[in-house]
Amino acid sequence: MPLKKFVVGNWKMHGVAADLEQVTAIAEAAAERPGVDAGLCVPATLIERAVRAAPGFTIGAQDVHHLEKGAHTGDVCAAMLHDAGASLVIVGHSERRDSHRERDEDVRAKAEAALRSGLATIVCVGESLAVRDAGEAVATVSAQVDASLPRSDIAKLSVAYEPIWAIGTGKVASPDDIEEMHAAIRERLVAAYGEAGRHVRILYGGSVKGSNAAEIFAVPDVDGALVGGASLKAADFVPILDAAAAAVEGAPAIA
Ligand code: PGA
Repeated sequence: MPLKKFVVGNWKMHGVAADLEQVTAIAEAAAERPGVDAGLCVPATLIERAVRAAPGFTIGAQDVHHLEKGAHTGDVCAAMLHDAGASLVIVGHSERRDSHRERDEDVRAKAEAALRSGLATIVCVGESLAVRDAGEAVATVSAQVDASLPRSDIAKLSVAYEPIWAIGTGKVASPDDIEEMHAAIRERLVAAYGEAGRHVRILYGGSVKGSNAAEIFAVPDVDGALVGGASLKAADFVPILDAAAAAVEGAPAIA
């Protein structure tokens, strides 16, 4: 049975007060499309204002520390995110795995801390171009999933498959490659969680935009999208919400 689509914007290191009107416009559009779950992960500095600019809309963060508090200069813990009004967090984005040297075990600890606190949590995985060219993509991502998955309550867990070579490049994985990878991730989720693993949403990310979203959402086991560049402006993001809504309407039933 298809799961309700989840479309999340990742603003990365973009967003100041002047951009709050985009948050409001995106939230208003999302409210008009109740068949789709939507959210925006903004910089930590903008969370509280984004929540105020978009009451009732899901605002999230892009990282969280795995500990509850302490001497960790520059870090933010789950309780702080809740305090600011966030209800969602991304962990293990490839940009953090790369530039902050986050390993699977770090990602898993962050996911466990986030879920324990009640934050909806998106765990990101994805292979480099070298790995794909070597024919190792499925094995590599499967291993990443196994090692990054939280061993905790997974009711609010999603996984995002984001091939690194497709992020911000305009290149998109082919529907066949996405289908193969999402099926492999689903298999790992069921291996880890049993039947509950069938209800974990698997998002695709990497150069998703209005013009390719419908094709991506039509792929089996694509339960949504994690969107970077095309989430910064309502004019770019709303067509992706529309594609998700249309995919839901065309589906036989919603879990
Ligand atoms: P992109 O980024 O949509 O700009 O490719 C996706 C992501 O990194 O989450």
